[in-house]
Formats: sequence, structure tokens, C-alpha cells
Amino acid sequence: MKLLTLEKINDLSAKPDRCMQDAPLGNIDFSCPFVPEIYTQLYFTDSYSQLSFEEKLHYNQLFGARMNEQFLVFEEDFTNTVLRIFLQCFSVSDDLKAAVEKMILEENIHSSMFEKLNRASFPDLFQKSSRFFTKLSFAERKMSQWILSFPGMFMFPVWLIPLLEEYSLKFSKDIMGKNSGMLGSLEENYVRVHAEHKKDEVRHVHIDIYILEKILSHSGSLKKKINRHLLVRFLRKIIIPRRSGPAVVKEFVKRNPRLREFLPVMLRQSENLSSNQEFVNSLFHAEMMPVTDYYMKEFTGIQLKDIFSFAGENSI
Ligand SMILES: [Fe+2]
Ligand SMILES: [Fe+2]
Repeated sequence: MKLLTLEKINDLSAKPDRCMQDAPLGNIDFSCPFVPEIYTQLYFTDSYSQLSFEEKLHYNQLFGARMNEQFLVFEEDFTNTVLRIFLQCFSVSDDLKAAVEKMILEENIHSSMFEKLNRASFPDLFQKSSRFFTKLSFAERKMSQWILSFPGMFMFPVWLIPLLEEYSLKFSKDIMGKNSGMLGSLEENYVRVHAEHKKDEVRHVHIDIYILEKILSHSGSLKKKINRHLLVRFLRKIIIPRRSGPAVVKEFVKRNPRLREFLPVMLRQSENLSSNQEFVNSLFHAEMMPVTDYYMKEFTGIQLKDIFSFAGENSI
């Protein structure tokens, strides 16, 4: 699989029509769902069928805000941290440096766009902070900052960048189809923001692979072996809905008191989703992330199906 050349990437990123535009938002239409149903967690549980149409719509809108928040947190706290450390730790070509520097600026624009969209959607939740559903503890923040400070040693989390960028590409493509599933046409502002986001992410995925190639070229076989093992464990852990997904369910129930007695069941069913192959495939699958899957195989010898298909669980 051929990557875009860095020259081409830098060329494209200089063209305004090939970059995300920070356009003003219109009024949010609360009669519409915000995201396709298959991107929400409860959709994969039995509880979902027990909800009325209005409740499904309400849950979908809260989950849509959670998705914006996750993109924002990931790009601000994770991606840009890794990119800055990468530029500090490795000597790279001028082309790669320019591409990474532009990517950092673009991720900042994305974060502010997602923040604006969430504030327009749920001002009560996002007025004071851009983070409502995703809150890391102090220890978790420190631990991840420490690991990310050594990309030459612990490169396994870096794979999360192309994985989630290809996930966002698939999400943008699906949202641009304007169809939520059974809840009707998607909200126009959401369609527009995520369509704009796609313009930059198409290039970013290729930059990520150049970064990983560079980091891996400085790694010996023992380091690669350790990181391969950590990558598998890490990716299998993050598919368990532990924090932001359940936080959406709690907020949803808080706003819909009829559902209070079902809260424990809904939370249990969400937490069990990591053993639901259909749900796991909706998060990480080679068809959704062909570039990452291809280069993960090239660079580490493993593929997404080895990590995420339960039949293959003991093979790594
Ligand atoms: Fe982004
Ligand atoms: Fe990106």
C-alpha cells in the first residue's frame, strides 16, 4: 500500500479547500440524531430496544457530544503531545517536520471546532470545561504523560493515532451519508463539522505512518518485541467501555428519571460489550482502518484481526 509522499501531503495542506474550515455553526436541531446509531454503545445492548424513540434520540445526542469530546481529548492531550515529543526526540527531514508541525496546528483547530459544537449542543455540560464525559484521574494523567515522554522506548501507544484517525475517517464518511439508522436524518451541523474534519484526517493517517516508521527504525528487536506485546494488551484493554460510555448512560438516565431502575442493567450491559464481536468490529476492523492494518502488519507482524477476533485471542 503506497503512502502519499510528504511533498504531496505538504502541498495539499497548503490548499484551503483541502483543509478543515472553521465555519460558524447554525442552531442545533434537536429533532435530529447527532450520529449514526451504530456508533453508540447502547445500540449493541438489549437495553436499547427497551427505549422509546424519544429516549433513543436523546441518548444518541448525548453520545454524539461524547464522541466530539473524545476526538477533542484525544487530539489535544494525546496526539499533539506525541507529535511535539516526536519532533524533540528525533531528527527528521524538513518535509516530515513541516507535515508534523502543520498537523499540530490542524488538530488545535479540530479541538476548538468540537468544543464549539458541544457548547452549542449542551451548554449546561460544556460551559465551564470542554471535558464532561472524559475525566482522567491525576494518577492516570501522570502515568500516560510519563509513558508518552519516551516514544523511542514505548512506541506502542503511538499506534493509537492512526487507528483513531482512520476511525474518525470512517465516522465522517458515514455521517456524510446523513442517515442515522432508524432515527432519521442526521443533524446538519454535525454532518458539516465531521465532513470538514475528514479533509485533514485523510492526510494525517499518512503522516502517522511516517512517524511510526521513523520511531521503529531506531528500535532494536527486543524493544520491538516488548512493544508488540504491550500493543496487543493495550488495545484489548481500551475496547472495554469503562469511563466515558458509562458516563453518557448515567447522564442520560439523570435526564430521564423513568429509566432510573434500569441504570444498573444498562451499565452492566455496556461494560460487557468488549466480549461482543459485533461491537468490537465497530471499533477496530481492518476494513475501517486499512492503512493502519497494512502497516501494523508490515512493521510489527500483527494485524487487527489477530488482536480483536476472539477466535485469535490466544494466538498472540
Ligand atoms: Fe483531528
Ligand atoms: Fe488528525
